[in-house]
Amino acid sequence: MTETPSWFQSRAAYGLLTAVVAAAAAGAAVLLVNISERKAEQRAPYLRVVDVGEDDVDAALWGQNWPAQYDGYKKTALRTSTRFGGHGGSEALPDEKIDRDPWLRRMFLGYAFSIDYRDRRGHAHMLDDQEQTERLTKPQSGSCLHCHAAVMPLYRELGDGDAMAGFAKSYTFSYQELNEKLHAMDKAHPVSCVDCHDPKSMGLRVTRPGFINGIRALAESDAPVPAMPSIEQWRQGDRKAPYQPNEDATRNEMRSFVCGQCHVEYYCSSKMPLTFPWGQGLTADQTEAFWDATTFPDGTAFSDFAHKETRAPVLKAQHPEFELWSQGIHARSGVACADCHMPYMREGASKISDHWVRSPLLNVNRACQTCHRTSEAELLARVDQIQSRNYELLQRGGVAIVDLIDTIVQAKAEGASDAELAPALALQRKAQWRLDFIAAENSMGFHAPQEAARVLGEATDYARQGQVSVLRRGAAATPAAGDAEGKAP
Ligand code: HEC
Ligand code: HEC
Ligand code: HEC
Ligand code: HEC
Ligand code: HEC
Repeated sequence: MTETPSWFQSRAAYGLLTAVVAAAAAGAAVLLVNISERKAEQRAPYLRVVDVGEDDVDAALWGQNWPAQYDGYKKTALRTSTRFGGHGGSEALPDEKIDRDPWLRRMFLGYAFSIDYRDRRGHAHMLDDQEQTERLTKPQSGSCLHCHAAVMPLYRELGDGDAMAGFAKSYTFSYQELNEKLHAMDKAHPVSCVDCHDPKSMGLRVTRPGFINGIRALAESDAPVPAMPSIEQWRQGDRKAPYQPNEDATRNEMRSFVCGQCHVEYYCSSKMPLTFPWGQGLTADQTEAFWDATTFPDGTAFSDFAHKETRAPVLKAQHPEFELWSQGIHARSGVACADCHMPYMREGASKISDHWVRSPLLNVNRACQTCHRTSEAELLARVDQIQSRNYELLQRGGVAIVDLIDTIVQAKAEGASDAELAPALALQRKAQWRLDFIAAENSMGFHAPQEAARVLGEATDYARQGQVSVLRRGAAATPAAGDAEGKAP
C-alpha cells in the first residue's frame, strides 16, 4: 500500500532531468529556480494532450490524458454480481431489496424507502438511477445530488463562485429544480475525475462539503480514530486552523477519504443542510448519539420519519461503509478502500490504479493476494464465512423487529396508552437504527466483522426488550398478572 506507482518515479526522474538540462544552458541561479519549479510539477503526470480544469466534469476529456484510468472508469457501467455484492435483477432494474427482505419494507413503512429501494450498481449509473427512483414521488431536496453527480460547478454557480456557500443553499431547492439546473449547465455527469483529483497536480483531494464539514467535526470530537493518524496528530497541535483533509491527511488516508465523500451515513432533506453525523465519532452508537442530540431548525427533536404503524420517531441509516470500515482490522492496519476496490494493475511498463471500482471478490488476485499469501479459494471461503454469519444474524434481527412492531400494533388495538408504549417506541428506534446500520452497509459485515456482530446483537436485544416492555406493560403498577384491568400477562 505504501508502494509508489512507477509513473510517479519516472515523473520525478523526468523533472530532474529537465531541470539539469535547463541549468546547464543557463547557469546556477536558474538551476535553483528550475529545481523548485520542477519539484512543484513532479506530480503533473506525463504529456497532457488537453488541458483540464475545475469545470471539466466530463471524464472523456480527461481520458485523452489518462486513457488507462478512463478505460477502467468506463467499465463501472458493466454489470457486476457476487453472492451479496453488485446487483441482482435486470440491467434496466436492479433487484428490489425490500422484496428480497420484506422486513426491511415493514421497518420503513411511512418513508419513501418502503416504495423503492434497490441494489446498488456501478458508478456510471449513479445519476440515472437517482433520476429514476420512485422515491422521487415524495418531495426530495437538491442535496441528493451531492453524491450522485459531479456537482461542484453547480455549487459554485449557486454560491457566486464560492462552492461552500452554494452547498449551504442547495438543500433549500427541490431535487427537480437543481437537477434541471445541472442539465441546463450541461454538467450532468456521474462522479468524475475532478471529484477526486486536483486537475493541476493530479494529486488526490476531496471536494465534497458534506465530508469536509463532517471530518472536521470528527477531528474536533474526542472519539478515538486509530485508523486516521493525521486526526490524532491535528488534535495534539494548537487547533488554530480547523482540520483540513486536503492539507492535513496523509496520502494513504486520502485513498479512503475520497470514498468517504459519499459512502457514508447522512441526513438529506429540505429541513436542514446535508449532514454527516460524525461530531461524536463514527460508530453506530456515536452516530446515534449525535442524531439524538440534534434538533431541527424549528426546535423539534430529530428523526427521519414516524413509523406508519407504531408512530415511533425513527432513524434511517444509509450505506455507512466508511464508518464500518473505520472499526475494522483493515482500517487499523492502514488498509485503504482503494487497496481493495482500486488495486494496482500492470499497464504496459507502468503500474496504475484500477479505476473499475467494484467488488474485490471479482479480483481477489490483485485486491487481496498482494497482502495475503493464501489461495484465492481460501480467501473467498473466509469472506463467505464472515458474510454468511453476518447474514444469519441480520435475518434474526429482521424477525425480532417485525415481532416488536406486531406486538406494539396489537397493544394499540387493545387500547394501550402512549405512556405505556413509550419505552417500546424508544427501543424500536434503537433496534431499527442498529439493524439498518448493518443492512444498509454494503459489505455484508466484511468491513468490520466483529463490530457488525456486536451491533446486530444489540439490535435484536433492543427489539426483544421492547417487546417484553409491551407484554409486561402495567406489570410494575399492578404486580399480579391478569389483574383487574385485564391486561395480558
Ligand atoms: C480489505 C479490503 C477492503 C477494504 C479496505 C474496503 N473494502 Fe469494501 N468491500 C470489501 C469486500 C470483500 C466486500 C464484499 C464484496 C462482495 O460481497 O461482493 C466489500 C463491499 C463493498 C461495497 C459493496 C460492493 C458491491 O459490489 O456491491 C462497497 C460500496 C464498499 N465495499 C465500499 C468500501 C469503502 C467506501 C471502503 C473504505 C471506506 C471500503 N469498501 C474498504 C473489501 C474491502
Ligand atoms: C460522488 C459520490 C461517490 C464517490 C466519491 C464514490 N462513490 Fe461509490 N458509489 C456511489 C453511488 C451513488 C453508487 C451507486 C450507484 C448506483 O447504484 O447507481 C456507488 C457504487 C459503488 C460500488 C458498487 C459497484 C457495483 O458494481 O455494484 C462500489 C464497490 C463503490 N461505489 C465503491 C467506491 C469506492 C471504493 C470509492 C472511492 C475510491 C467510491 N465508491 C467513491 C457514490 C460514490
Ligand atoms: C452522502 C452521499 C449520498 C447522498 C446525499 C445521497 N445518496 Fe443516494 N447513494 C449513495 C451511495 C454511496 C449509494 C450506493 C450504495 C447503496 O445503494 O447503498 C447510493 C444509492 C442510491 C440509489 C440506488 C440504490 C437504491 O437506494 O435504490 C438511489 C436510487 C439513490 N441513492 C437515491 C438518492 C436520493 C433520492 C437521494 C436524496 C434523498 C440520495 N440518493 C442522496 C450516496 C448518497
Ligand atoms: C472516486 C475517486 C476517484 C475518481 C472519480 C477518479 N480517481 Fe483517479 N485515482 C483515485 C485513487 C484513490 C488513486 C490512487 C492514488 C494514490 O494511490 O495516490 C487514483 C490514481 C489516479 C492516477 C495516478 C496513477 C494511478 O493510476 O495510480 C491517475 C493518472 C488518475 N487516477 C486518473 C484519473 C482519471 C483520468 C479519472 C477520471 C476518468 C479518475 N482518475 C477518476 C481515485 C479516483
Ligand atoms: C494492503 C494489505 C491488505 C489487503 C489488500 C487486504 N488485506 Fe486482509 N488483512 C490485512 C492485515 C494487515 C490484516 C490484519 C492481520 C493481522 O494483523 O494479523 C488483515 C486481516 C484480514 C482478515 C481477518 C479479519 C479479521 O477481522 O480478523 C481477513 C478475513 C482478510 N484480511 C481478508 C482479506 C480479503 C478477502 C482481502 C481482499 C478483498 C484483503 N484481506 C485485502 C492486510 C490486507
